[in-house]
Amino acid sequence: MKEIKLDELFAEARKAADSAYAKYSKFRVGAALLADDGTVFTGCNVENRSYGLTICAERTAVVKAVSSGFRSFAALAISTPDSETPVGPCGACRQVLSEFMSPESPVIFGGSGSKKVKTTIGDLYPFDSLHNLGGD
Ligand code: THU
Repeated sequence: MKEIKLDELFAEARKAADSAYAKYSKFRVGAALLADDGTVFTGCNVENRSYGLTICAERTAVVKAVSSGFRSFAALAISTPDSETPVGPCGACRQVLSEFMSPESPVIFGGSGSKKVKTTIGDLYPFDSLHNLGGD
């Protein structure tokens, strides 16, 4: 398999954060999802005045990718430029990402500072006992 350049994927996530519609929280998030064939899908958070309708950057990227015909992803990057330190994906996004990524898939996330966290979907979402419920 082609080497995954996580730092380049992170740069895509950082750019995507500039499109965030974060009118209420002022907390921009960008995500970049690498499909198995090398295509990159980006996403940002899209907030709403009815706060609970907010869509996270990670799920925006997943929905863009799956609705474009892609279902399997090799890596994910998340950028939170409004925090100095790295902020990982929320619980709902971990569940949704685990549907389309295998446990060993790498994930990188970082804020505006130099520290980046490099982990995997399996570490972010362990004991995923329903992973094979769909039968494939
Ligand atoms: N947010 C994301 O986009 N991804 C996450 O994993 C955490 C939270 C967004 C939702 C909301 O627009 C803002 O960050 C503050 O919670």
